[in-house]
Amino acid sequence: MIVNGKPYQSIWTDPSNDEVVMIINQHLLPFEFRVDEISSSAQVMEAIRTMKVRGAPLIGICGAFGLYMACLEARHKKDGEKYISEHAEMLKSARPTAVNLAWAVNRVMQKTAGVKDPEEKIRGARKEAIGMMEEDKESCFRIGQHGLELILEISRRKKGSPVNILTHCNAGWLACIDYGTATSPIYLAHDQGIKLHIWVDETRPRNQGARLTAWELGQHGVPHTVIVDNAGGHLMQKRLVDMVIVGSDRTTRTGDVANKIGTYLKALAAHDNDIPFYVALPSSSIDFSIRSGINEIRVEERDLSEVRNMEGSIRGDIYTVNIIPEKSPVSNFGFDITPARLVTGLITERGICGANEQEIIKLFPEH
Ligand code: MRU
Repeated sequence: MIVNGKPYQSIWTDPSNDEVVMIINQHLLPFEFRVDEISSSAQVMEAIRTMKVRGAPLIGICGAFGLYMACLEARHKKDGEKYISEHAEMLKSARPTAVNLAWAVNRVMQKTAGVKDPEEKIRGARKEAIGMMEEDKESCFRIGQHGLELILEISRRKKGSPVNILTHCNAGWLACIDYGTATSPIYLAHDQGIKLHIWVDETRPRNQGARLTAWELGQHGVPHTVIVDNAGGHLMQKRLVDMVIVGSDRTTRTGDVANKIGTYLKALAAHDNDIPFYVALPSSSIDFSIRSGINEIRVEERDLSEVRNMEGSIRGDIYTVNIIPEKSPVSNFGFDITPARLVTGLITERGICGANEQEIIKLFPEH
């Protein structure tokens, strides 16, 4: 997507150095646009853990490059195989809820398993990571094409007046490689001249909506308004929302959706007001091995400072301030589970299906 008139993706390989990848440092957005170099598996781990890179598809691809870097580092180790498998486990545990991380790391492990020659292993890991990066772009573009049909239908019904879409967190191109999941149909529709307006949930505690989604949409010229997390229900009652589209960090084979904390409340409000609630996701975010979101998805609990503090900018400098009485306890669950019964449909790279096992498996019969 375009940043200051120039095309970017969220991660890319350095054309002048095979051992380096470049990322957009998401800590600093929207106050500063900075590209960081990453050249070790430890740096990948730190970037994922601290959320310099975040969003299920992107952390998956970063994890794949992290394993590639572990293969590079293993050249100088006595027991290279052990070093690589230990790093695979460490990478997978950096963020537990998004299934893409384990999926991507396992895929690189499987592709390079049994390759004895270290140089061949390195080449194989790099090829696989780059291949997955390209696949993710393609998947997100296809998600956009399928979701576009839903937006077109509403636009026709509203005789061309703006389609109001509510989204939560950042399921945009910054969370993937390009296009995004929830935002992909939005960008495609906007580029076709369809009138849209996006309600952007601020998404406390890290404010991915206010800081990242609003920034992305603004860069692309998509009309949007940032709202506090609790405003969605009111807007739905007032018929100011035509549809909701969110992303997912992990979806079960039965259609239960783990996504950023607060998603469930939006789904409940949408259900109560008869507003379609769609989840846009690549199949790499579907965990085909589990059935129950509530019982089988581990919800990440993040550092309490995320709740205690707020970050903002004054004249270009970023400051952190405390917003809670020091002695008050806080808790910080990163995600929640939206049960399948509240999901109108899943927008995947292969098409749109109901959030139920039968329809999911019909689209992905290999599972
Ligand atoms: O904690 P984050 O910022 O990594 O959470 C991201 C989300 O919840 C996104 O909405 C989800 O990953 C979908 S990403 C396309």
